[in-house]
Amino acid sequence: MTTQRVAIITGGSSGIGRATTVALAKEGVKVAVAARRAKEGEETVQLVKKAGSDGIFVKTDVANEDDVRLLVEKTIKKYGRLDYAFNNAAIGERMTPLVEQTSDVFDQIMNVNVKGVWLCMKYEIPQMLRNSGGGAIVNMSSGAGVVGFPQMPIYIASKHAVLGLTKSAALEYAKSGIRINAVAPGGVETDMLKETIGDNHQFLETFKSMHLIGRIGDPEEIANAVAWLLSDKASFVLGHTLLVDGGIISR
Ligand SMILES: NC(=O)c1ccc[n+]([C@@H]2O[C@H](COP(=O)([O-])OP(=O)(O)OC[C@H]3O[C@@H](n4cnc5c(N)ncnc54)[C@H](O)[C@@H]3O)[C@@H](O)[C@H]2O)c1
Repeated sequence: MTTQRVAIITGGSSGIGRATTVALAKEGVKVAVAARRAKEGEETVQLVKKAGSDGIFVKTDVANEDDVRLLVEKTIKKYGRLDYAFNNAAIGERMTPLVEQTSDVFDQIMNVNVKGVWLCMKYEIPQMLRNSGGGAIVNMSSGAGVVGFPQMPIYIASKHAVLGLTKSAALEYAKSGIRINAVAPGGVETDMLKETIGDNHQFLETFKSMHLIGRIGDPEEIANAVAWLLSDKASFVLGHTLLVDGGIISR
């Protein structure tokens, strides 16, 4: 009998994180859902159970080191091992001219989007090293991690930084059997996209048309790519940035 795999997914209370949690649950993976909102996090756990697997919600702010340490400790206490992690939680940046943006917003975005990913790997990797088969991590970057875009410089910089963290970590742990990759989606229909664009419907139409496939993506389309990167089917893939972006033209 093969051991049932265990995953941590941050930002699992909505959007791409929730869709990925459900995709992994359908493959029998047990999931620790890490997020700040308890009601939505518990709803994701119910979806995991409906999909036939098991899960726990752990209230977590990924920018807080104690929270991240406890997230990993609680996962190990409940399931005894950690095989997969999807470090997905992030916050967006309302489109704002660079010179009008504040230091507080800079610190918030960098703390969640960059420090959060680093903290997660810092506590996940030691647990994966305990497994004879190693583990796999996917960090959430973005199309914004590979190109510039006006009026979103801090978010863009944070997603570029995620790729730097991913490539460095992937090389450091390559020999230890831990594969670390990143996913870089184009526009995806989620709360974050709505909050970023606000009521600028004209921009939404322009943004959609930048995707040569003619639409923005569904969270499930990103979830499928993450599930593949985490799986043994991607056993020779590491340090890679997988664009899942409907052929976005700014590439
Ligand atoms: N939607 C898009 O168009 C798009 C495109 C490329 C990349 N992304 C990335 O996808 C990821 C998921 O975003 P989404 O689009 O599903 O939007 P979302 O707003 O539904 O998901 C973001 C999740 O992160 C959580 N989160 C935020 N700050 C947190 C913190 N400090 N601690 C713990 N959890 C926190 C939120 O509560 C939420 O559950 C993000 O990293 C985002 O940058 C989104």
